[in-house]
Amino acid sequence: MGILDGKVAIITGGAKGMGEAHVRKFVEEGAKVVVADLDVASGNKLADELGGDALFVELDVTDTSSWEAAVQQTKAAFGTVDVLVNNAGIAGPIVGLLEVGEDLYRSIMDVNLAGTFFGMQAVLPTMVENGKGSIVNISSLAGMRYDTTVNPAYSASKFAIRGFTKQAAFEFGKHDIRVNAVMPGAIMTPLTRASLSEEAIASVSKHIPAKRFADSSEVSEAVVFLASDKASYINGVDLVVDGGKGAINQDILGAE
Ligand SMILES: NC(=O)c1ccc[n+]([C@@H]2O[C@H](COP(=O)([O-])OP(=O)(O)OC[C@H]3O[C@@H](n4cnc5c(N)ncnc54)[C@H](O)[C@@H]3O)[C@@H](O)[C@H]2O)c1
Repeated sequence: MGILDGKVAIITGGAKGMGEAHVRKFVEEGAKVVVADLDVASGNKLADELGGDALFVELDVTDTSSWEAAVQQTKAAFGTVDVLVNNAGIAGPIVGLLEVGEDLYRSIMDVNLAGTFFGMQAVLPTMVENGKGSIVNISSLAGMRYDTTVNPAYSASKFAIRGFTKQAAFEFGKHDIRVNAVMPGAIMTPLTRASLSEEAIASVSKHIPAKRFADSSEVSEAVVFLASDKASYINGVDLVVDGGKGAINQDILGAE
C-alpha cells in the first residue's frame, strides 16, 4: 500500500535530476507515472526500468500542442490525470542582471514560467471534470529571496510561479483541486553540477544549517506528500525544503 495508490501523475523534466527522483518515489508509493521530458533517451531508459507503472512521453513544456498530446497519451495509457508535477526547469549561468541577454531571458521565462503555466492549463479541465486533483509547481528558494547561486531571470521566473500557484489555488479550490509550490534550496542534481564548481558547492554548504546539499529524494518526499490525499486541506502554500538555508535573514555569502 502506498500513499499514491490509484493515482495517475505527469512529472515534467522526469527523465533526470530531481524529476527522476520524484518519478521513482511516485511509483514506489503506488502511482502510475508519465515521465514527460525532452530527453528521449534518458526518459525511455527510466520508464523501461520501472516497467508498466511508468510511460515515457516526449514533451516540450513550452509548446501547447505538445502538452495537448501528452495529456491525451496519459489518458490513453492510464485513463486520467490526477496529479501534475511541473518540475522541468532551466537555470542558465550565474551572471548579473546586465549580463542576462535577451535570448537567455526569454528561454528561462519560456521553460520555467510559460511551461508551468501551460501545464496547468493542459490538465485543469480534466481535473475539474473529475472533481479532484493536485498540482505541484516546483519553484525555488531563489523564488523567495536573493540568492547568490542563480541569475535574476531565473529568480524572477521562480517568484512568478508562486503568483499563479496562489491564483489557481483560489480559483480551483472549489473543485477539490489543490495547487501548491515546493521551494527546494540547494539540491545535488545534474543542473547543480553544471552551474556550480566544487569550490562553490563547498562554500554554499558552509552557510546551510544542514551543512550539505540535499539528495533529490529528500525533495521527493515533500512532492509526494502534497500530491497525496494526506495533504487534503493544504492549498496555495510554499513548502520550503532547504535544510534551513532560508532561515538566514540575509544571504551572508553575498556579503563576502
Ligand atoms: N538543483 C537545485 O538545486 C534546484 C534548486 C531549486 C529549484 N530547482 C528546480 O527544480 C527543477 C529540477 O531541477 P534539476 O536540478 O533536477 O534540473 P536538471 O537539469 O537536472 O533536470 C531538468 C530536466 O528538465 C528537462 N527539461 C528541460 N527543458 C525542458 C522542456 N522545455 N520540456 C521538457 N523538459 C525539459 C531536462 O531534459 C531535464 O531532464 C527545476 O525546475 C529547477 O529550477 C532546482
